Amino acid sequence: MDKFVISGGKPLSGDIPVSGAKNSALPALAASLLTSETVVLRRIPRVKDIRTMMGLLSSIGASVEEDAGTVTLRLGGAVTPEAPYELVKTMRASSLVLGPLVARHGRARVSMPGGCAIGARPINLHVQGLEHLGAVVTQSHGYIEAVAPEGGLRGSTVHFDRITVTGTEDLMMAAVLAKGETVLENAAREPEVQDLAVLLNKMGARVEGAGTSRIRIEGVEALHGADHAIIPDRIEAGTFLIAGAMAGGDVTVSGCEPEHLTALVAKLRQAGAEISTVGEGVLRVRRSGGLRATDITTEEHPGFPTDLQAQYLALMTQAEGISFITETIFENRFMHAPELQRMGASIRIEGRQAIVAGPRPLSGAQVMSSDLRASASLVIAGLVASGETIVDRVYHLDRGYERMDEKLARVGATIRRTS
Ligand code: EPZ
Repeated sequence: MDKFVISGGKPLSGDIPVSGAKNSALPALAASLLTSETVVLRRIPRVKDIRTMMGLLSSIGASVEEDAGTVTLRLGGAVTPEAPYELVKTMRASSLVLGPLVARHGRARVSMPGGCAIGARPINLHVQGLEHLGAVVTQSHGYIEAVAPEGGLRGSTVHFDRITVTGTEDLMMAAVLAKGETVLENAAREPEVQDLAVLLNKMGARVEGAGTSRIRIEGVEALHGADHAIIPDRIEAGTFLIAGAMAGGDVTVSGCEPEHLTALVAKLRQAGAEISTVGEGVLRVRRSGGLRATDITTEEHPGFPTDLQAQYLALMTQAEGISFITETIFENRFMHAPELQRMGASIRIEGRQAIVAGPRPLSGAQVMSSDLRASASLVIAGLVASGETIVDRVYHLDRGYERMDEKLARVGATIRRTS
């Protein structure tokens, strides 16, 4: 099992290139199930979750080739519309094949994903949405079976009880081939939802309103192939902006989309980091003075992203004063706190809130990753901790960050991967 060994105390300087967005690539890959023609997706990050999704699509019957971040997919022959437990248990986003399979192949059998470190993470809203479109859904032996009615899914209005990113994406993909019009109310507005709509429309779908909380989809007979480059990873970009603010120095993050990062940039500026746009898709972060405690509350886009909460909490351990970090999206997303406390941080958890008192000097320690973003939080803490920090189980990180150790080493961090 790989570890990262980090020696803290070095400011960062240089440029960090951002990869394509994992959370855009996953639905985009699933969308290839909606046509028998070739779909080409570019700027696909080479991370574990993407390899898992490619493996799932192959097991369904697609031919999948990857070459230097470009993935070419074609579902031409026989189709096995199933997502088995052994694949789904490693990546819950496998539920994204549910909508496309029911829409185009009339049925799907997908293992229920089960919970993960950050919460129970049910997919009841995905199921309810499909039932609204006429699917008959049964659950048994840990599997969800969804069957479209005779003549296929029928357009309808789906109102999400709460905002769900992959629920919105799943239902968009189910609706594009349904008969008639579908309206998704209280839809997720994340950039990744918008990117999926761009791809679907390139494939011949008729999706309007993506990026707002009301998405309207006019069903069509069939979709054709497309060639699409996915958006940059705003969470990776945000992670590196926070790393730059934490370590100090002068770092640019290139190939990103600044307008996807407005909530984080505002908070980093309030906290005392200097953030500027220095060119097309290039954000620069510098920090020479101290940091000020600055509260955040995670919210659906365009609010402060829950996927940057752990990283930001690490930063607040070095800020002057008391910070209140409120997590409203997931019920158990402070797994990084006990590990940061072992490094010397002063954090108190009260329900959905973490109260951080700073600044507290951090000392390097052996720490354990628990989930993807908590691991990033520990790496960021290691950048300023005195002595050596060993982050264990970095397979969590490798699920969503392409070569994070190499990208940080290139801007001056003392970090190396060991097995
Ligand atoms: C997506 O997960 C992301 N994953 C997550 O990123 C991200 O944290 C999350 O959205 C929130 O932004 C992908 O896009 C692959 P949700 P998703 O459905 O869609 C509850 C990362 O680090 N809910 O928006 O699974 C759910 O329990 C990952 O890259 C239901 O109750 O999240 C949660 O409390 C982690 N029933 C809330 O809604 C449902 O049917 C938001 O979940 C669906 C969700």
